[in-house]
Amino acid sequence: MSDKITIALAKGRILKETLPLLERAGITPQDDLEKSRKLIFNTNHDNINLVLIRSADVPTYVQYGAADMGIAGKDVLLEHGGEGLYEWVDLHIAPCKLMTAGFADKELPKGRLKVATKYTGITRDYFMKLGRQVELIKLYGSMELAPIVGLSDMIVDLVDTGNTLKANGLVPQDFIMQITSRLIVNRASLKMKNKALKQVIEKIENAVKQPEQAL
Ligand code: PRP
Repeated sequence: MSDKITIALAKGRILKETLPLLERAGITPQDDLEKSRKLIFNTNHDNINLVLIRSADVPTYVQYGAADMGIAGKDVLLEHGGEGLYEWVDLHIAPCKLMTAGFADKELPKGRLKVATKYTGITRDYFMKLGRQVELIKLYGSMELAPIVGLSDMIVDLVDTGNTLKANGLVPQDFIMQITSRLIVNRASLKMKNKALKQVIEKIENAVKQPEQAL
């Protein structure tokens, strides 16, 4: 019997694009992940399970081997640091941009800028490279509110359609980096469960390479 493989998936926007990719890889969950309140799912393969968690937690599950592999945004991977895992392949799904954003017409302070973000690691590096002093304000979501209520001068957040910024009277400003989702693999699992894991990786790699060949 082959080793059990657990794949960690991120809830939210990434999931919408992950499910068709898994389908093309021939991995079909036995429940509707978008509707169910369950956290662990069986699939059409006896040896493949899925766990559904917050996107920022995916690298942690994979780092500790609680999941053998996972699908996570480059944003959360950079914030996590990548310890204990391999970033295997760019899946080219859930593309978006990490950007600074604020009010179009507001003059920024000459001194220390207050920047609200979930991405404190990336943001610290970005402003350090620019030689700009910033005070980072860590938030866990709804960053767009921070400049409106005077909590910060600007934000660093993901921008996809730009609708969330627009709806809150903000504009995208400086581009920091392009973000896509990546397949990540636990280092120890790759040694211990090499054959079974490689088989699953190959299915996913083929689905990335040949998106038109639906199974
Ligand atoms: C992201 C991001 C923005 C929004 C941008 O949040 O934080 O709020 O999407 O998308 P748009 O440019 O298409 O409007 P997400 O929906 O991933 O949820 P989160 O608040 O949990 O981060």
